[in-house]
Amino acid sequence: MKKENISKKILFWYDNNRRILPWRKFKSKKNKNYYTLVSEFMLQQTQVRTVIPYFENFIKKIPNFKKLSNINDEQLMKCWQGLGYYSRARNLKKTAKKIFSNFKGKLPNNLEDLKSLPGIGDYTANAILAIAFNKPVIPLDGNIERVLKRLFYLKKENEISKNNLNKKKSFFGFSKRSDDYAQAIMEIGATICKPISPLCDKCPLQKNCISFKKNDFKIKPKNKFNKIKYFEAKIYNSNDKYLLIKNNKFNFLRNLLIFPMNEVKKDQFKSSIDKKINIKMSNMDMKIILNKNNRNKKIKGDFMLDKYNINKIILPSFTKKIFKTISKH
Ligand code: ADE
Repeated sequence: MKKENISKKILFWYDNNRRILPWRKFKSKKNKNYYTLVSEFMLQQTQVRTVIPYFENFIKKIPNFKKLSNINDEQLMKCWQGLGYYSRARNLKKTAKKIFSNFKGKLPNNLEDLKSLPGIGDYTANAILAIAFNKPVIPLDGNIERVLKRLFYLKKENEISKNNLNKKKSFFGFSKRSDDYAQAIMEIGATICKPISPLCDKCPLQKNCISFKKNDFKIKPKNKFNKIKYFEAKIYNSNDKYLLIKNNKFNFLRNLLIFPMNEVKKDQFKSSIDKKINIKMSNMDMKIILNKNNRNKKIKGDFMLDKYNINKIILPSFTKKIFKTISKH
């Protein structure tokens, strides 16, 4: 089938099936650039469903590049609280500042300049080029990867390399509506070509799909394992108040309130009889010993947490999870 017909088929499907998403409802070109930047940062590690209310609130509170570049960190974190991966928020603000210091207040429209901005890698730069600037590129996100793996029945390690998947994108060709086209292919991945139980009867690419012909939809996952790391959290408790410190030690959750923690060896973790929990964080599987220190040891803290003030401060879900576990016992 000719490439032109592929893009027509995909866009026809998109025009009739696209989701109404808040970042697709912009009022001007400048607005579109800002919406694209904020939504792509949020969507980097978070699903569309979760992002929607955060995006709406963020845009209401911080409606443009100027406001974002001057926002104070507490207000910024308040808008991001619960989304996780807080370095994205810090990078977003740094990017807004750089847009004013290096690019006259305008989001750049070329790959090199975009990638010079904090938090913008290859994927996000290409997504911005396609969606905000209508450039003929197709960003390779997890959804598009899955569509390609199924279309071409790619199972072997060398077939699913980024390099090969980028080559296989040529199947899609291009469209004059590059902004819609990139999002249309992502949308097929997200809503039709789902990881489990794809909805092939609704798919505009059914006739082109080798996995459909073979009736085998299993996806070969990327060979990516989370690192297992072991920690000990020290729980200092007095009158149902728990001591927290501002984290300036670990790269994750930097500057946010956490229980005092150390990384420990696996052996120490295994031999401890204290309560333990597992938390997934960035690309780590964290295994944490919760060590209650009731002795009145003097240690400098930054905040005393209890169930009455837990919702009044900016607190990562990570700390809330530990608090919930220890306050149950
Ligand atoms: N994932 C990444 N970017 C997206 C977008 N613009 N729309 C839907 N899902 C996305």
